[in-house]
Amino acid sequence: MASVNSVQELKNLVDPIGVYGEYVRLTRKGKRSLGLCPFHREKTPSFSVDQETGLFYCFGCHKGGDLLRFLQDVEGCSFGEALEILANRAGVTLSLTTGRSSGFPIAPDRKERLRKALASAERYFRAALKSEQKGSPVRAYLEQRGLDGAAVETFALGYAPLSSGLLNHLAGEGFSPEEAMECGLVVEREQGGRAERFRNRLLFPIRDAMGRTVGFGGRAIDGQEPKYLNSPETPVFQKRDVLFGLCWTKEEIRKKGQAVLVEGYMDFVSAYRAGVLNVVAGLGTALSAGQAALLGRYAKEVILNYDGDPAGLTAAQRAVPVLLNHSLAVRVASLPAGKDPDECIKSAGAEAYRQALADSVPFFRFLVEQAQAKAALGSVDGRVAFVDSLADYLAAVPDPLARQEFACETAGRAGLDPNQVIRRLADKTRGQKEVAAKAPAQEPLRVPINEQMLIKGLRLFPKEGAAICATLPEELRKTLVVAPLLDDLANGKEPQEPASLAMLAFIDNSCHEALTLEAVRSAVRSLLANHLLEKQRRIRRQIEDAGQRRDARLVEVLNREMMAVVEEVRGLHGRTA
Ligand code: UTP
Ligand code: MN
Repeated sequence: MASVNSVQELKNLVDPIGVYGEYVRLTRKGKRSLGLCPFHREKTPSFSVDQETGLFYCFGCHKGGDLLRFLQDVEGCSFGEALEILANRAGVTLSLTTGRSSGFPIAPDRKERLRKALASAERYFRAALKSEQKGSPVRAYLEQRGLDGAAVETFALGYAPLSSGLLNHLAGEGFSPEEAMECGLVVEREQGGRAERFRNRLLFPIRDAMGRTVGFGGRAIDGQEPKYLNSPETPVFQKRDVLFGLCWTKEEIRKKGQAVLVEGYMDFVSAYRAGVLNVVAGLGTALSAGQAALLGRYAKEVILNYDGDPAGLTAAQRAVPVLLNHSLAVRVASLPAGKDPDECIKSAGAEAYRQALADSVPFFRFLVEQAQAKAALGSVDGRVAFVDSLADYLAAVPDPLARQEFACETAGRAGLDPNQVIRRLADKTRGQKEVAAKAPAQEPLRVPINEQMLIKGLRLFPKEGAAICATLPEELRKTLVVAPLLDDLANGKEPQEPASLAMLAFIDNSCHEALTLEAVRSAVRSLLANHLLEKQRRIRRQIEDAGQRRDARLVEVLNREMMAVVEEVRGLHGRTA
């Protein structure tokens, strides 16, 4: 396989429009391609890709940048992983020279190696499941849980047999015992030597959003404890950043704008098979900010559908603010007491389960009902305690309208005046709001048209553009919105900073009429003229000040400065003539 050793080299190998086109249906419009933005919901296209430079900008949500930025956002992956995606696509490997000049910020090869070992283990586990005879413990278990061949295939289920053979298999594929250990497949025994982590368990491969296996969840089939044994945290597996099943359902989630979040692996599998194709599961840990952020890349709304037991209810209460904090709308679907989604589907059927999801309620109704179940609303103290117990949740609601509804619901239940409740909650939550109301929508970029033309000019006519740029006085240059971009371009560097890239993307996608060198010159003259005008105003103010303080010497100096500026303005017009 060919190898490349710089980001630029890699970028040159792929057709950006083709990659964007896998996520967005693009229509060519002159020098741009337009489509519906994958980052926010919209009906008319405001997502634009510049045909020549391959930079994207959305005029609706104001995200913008290059293809690597796009992949990071759309796949929810790191810069290094975005590079890997492109490399795979181009059919090359990233060869890493040490030192910053290569432009590769991390060493993806070690992680890549571990993921390959995990993929190899997955093949071993799958083959082991297939080779088990009818009547073997794992076959019987699959049958008992209603998992047929199709489910085994779809979710790549495997079996960690009783007999050890994994290390041999891995060795046969060129992986060392140390690598098996590093990716969590093997553990060191107290008495020395190594043992396989998973023994006699049904294995659910845990994949990242891009579908690469990063670990396993192993279900005991013989009453072993723990019931589920999971891979440990490894360089490629951080539980707080992974959602089980997302790789299979992310497209549907994005299409619907909505995800159904369940607790367990089996819940995921059963819900999916019941036709809920936008489901994801946590990993048995409390929902983390990282998981909420990951979900937020695909969904606008989440239906929380945890188990109908006390642990599930508490976990759901805790998950609500985490989701709200990532700008997700939250609904809660309740299940019959004591049941989880899998059990529900088994006992009441797919239709009834989907109905339970359709009957979900806004999160605040759920929270209020939970609080009400514990409250003694007959007494004043009880009512105050009830309202106070909801205050923290209320503080986490960024949307004022939703907050209002929440307060009204609370008041209604306690038989109180909504205004009183709102005031009480406002008192209690003052100071916390700052935290809750974070994550503002991206600001639109405002780049003055003359500055846009200057940048565009530099891109179209590098040599002449640089000469024109050189005429800009430093004190003007540094006040420009595009100053950081200008520095990069003038030095012949490709901008790397996300902010600079976004600006460049905005400009590329904004001005697309043919630009002549004369138009660029004229834009620069306008910039200069405005700058000089501003300078004159400032000096005039300073002269007035100095005059009032009767500082004759300063007035004289300033007057001379003013003359020089007037001279400059004259020169500018001379150039125009
Ligand atoms: P549950 O105990 O609700 O299991 O744990 P479940 O999903 O109903 O599983 P089945 O139906 O008995 O097979 C929910 C999730 O918590 C994690 C797993 O991710 C599980 O899917 N968990 C649970 C563990 O990691 N370890 C355990 O021992 C138990
Ligand atoms: Mn279950």
